[in-house]
Amino acid sequence: MKFETRAIRLQSKRTLQNEHSTPLYLTSSFVFDDSEHMRALFASEAEGNIYSRFTNPSVREFELKMASLEEGEDCIATSSGMAAIFATFASLLAQGDHIMMSRAVFGSTFRLTEDYLAKWGITYSYLDHRSTSEWQSQVKPETKLLYLETPTNPGLDIMDLRQISDFCRKNSILLVVDNCFATPYLQKPLSLGADIVIHSATKYLDGQGRVMGGAIIAGHEIISRIFPFMKNAGPSLSPFNAWVLSKSLETLAVRMDRHCENALKVASWLESRPEVKEVRYPFLASHDGYDTARSQMKAGGGMVSFELRGGMEAGKKMIDNRSMMSLSANLGDTRTIITHPASSTHSKLSAGDRAAAGISDGLIRLSVGLEHVDDILADLEGAFLNHTVRPAIAQVSCLEAVVLGKTAFSEKNCLPSSLKRAFSERLTLIHEEILPVLNGTLLPVRVDT
Ligand SMILES: Cc1ncc(COP(=O)(O)O)c(C=O)c1O
Repeated sequence: MKFETRAIRLQSKRTLQNEHSTPLYLTSSFVFDDSEHMRALFASEAEGNIYSRFTNPSVREFELKMASLEEGEDCIATSSGMAAIFATFASLLAQGDHIMMSRAVFGSTFRLTEDYLAKWGITYSYLDHRSTSEWQSQVKPETKLLYLETPTNPGLDIMDLRQISDFCRKNSILLVVDNCFATPYLQKPLSLGADIVIHSATKYLDGQGRVMGGAIIAGHEIISRIFPFMKNAGPSLSPFNAWVLSKSLETLAVRMDRHCENALKVASWLESRPEVKEVRYPFLASHDGYDTARSQMKAGGGMVSFELRGGMEAGKKMIDNRSMMSLSANLGDTRTIITHPASSTHSKLSAGDRAAAGISDGLIRLSVGLEHVDDILADLEGAFLNHTVRPAIAQVSCLEAVVLGKTAFSEKNCLPSSLKRAFSERLTLIHEEILPVLNGTLLPVRVDT
């Protein structure tokens, strides 16, 4: 069966109620038929559920769907993406081990490594994710795993999974890939040579900004080493969240198609804007990882990053001038979300660490949603226009209006001569609109130039 069909049709066995849609097993524990049944389940001699920290049918349905969609042998669901990362590290690493980690990973993954793994005697090396040539010199006899994201968050760099999995195989290192930005619909790291795939299901897998969740997909042997940690430490996915996530997977393909279509349009539009220095989107021909992205991804994904001229201040202003887009730290939602990593998600990194991870002060991250793309573009345009105008208003508060034009300064010649005289060189002309300044309030009015 094709991806879309498996995402819809794989579900737990129909109960005696003959339900069509999958049921929710909202129960913390299960009953045993008799003392022998109980003994056999605890001794792992029979299959069945004991307690939802260990297994639950709603959770298992989500796990089996994820294993199938990622083309892996098995999956363990977790309460969040970070729980999936931590459960993987805690189960597979021991004191004295060493891990290699791309410099461009989610902020909390660094914190987990530096604040916890280090104190338990596990050492780490950060890798320059933009150049693999130095990596071999960082391998040690005790190196156990290499951890990366592709596309990276928030810089959207692309890492060549085939090449890196060859490197890992030669050095007997497990390759762990956080596939959160691409989802299994766009990229299947296991089929490209990775050993373990990690997900924050909180993102596109839910896709509607409702529940937290995570997943680890790998071969049976690796999953059997992680399962006892899950069972005993308990970062398990709740049955309710698993049920929501299973339903969400049914629409993953159609949602991702539209996310990608909107994001490509947004990225191409941003490339034409004078306010933008650089746009990062894996399926733009200008992206340095374009060929690799096309060889390992079905489409470019829903995330777009761009570098504003004007750094931190420009980034903050743009965010304050948006109207529809949500200002939130999440991503992968139906709603478009705008984030300024330097002043939020990555503000705790030093400026040097941010630069090494490809996060400049003017970088804006967009999680392009499923609204009509014209409305997303209009909101971005509005944020750009206001951003350019506000300083001008301060300078000309004695005047009655500020003229805006999409086309820039030179186009002021097409303005009525009375306005030309009034505004002179001090104004930024960007659009064919007039904003009269009345006692400090802005009233947008269209003007026929
Ligand atoms: C790439 C990536 N991995 C992992 C996580 C952690 O996921 P969660 O928030 O579900 O714990 C995030 C969260 O934003 C993320 O962006």
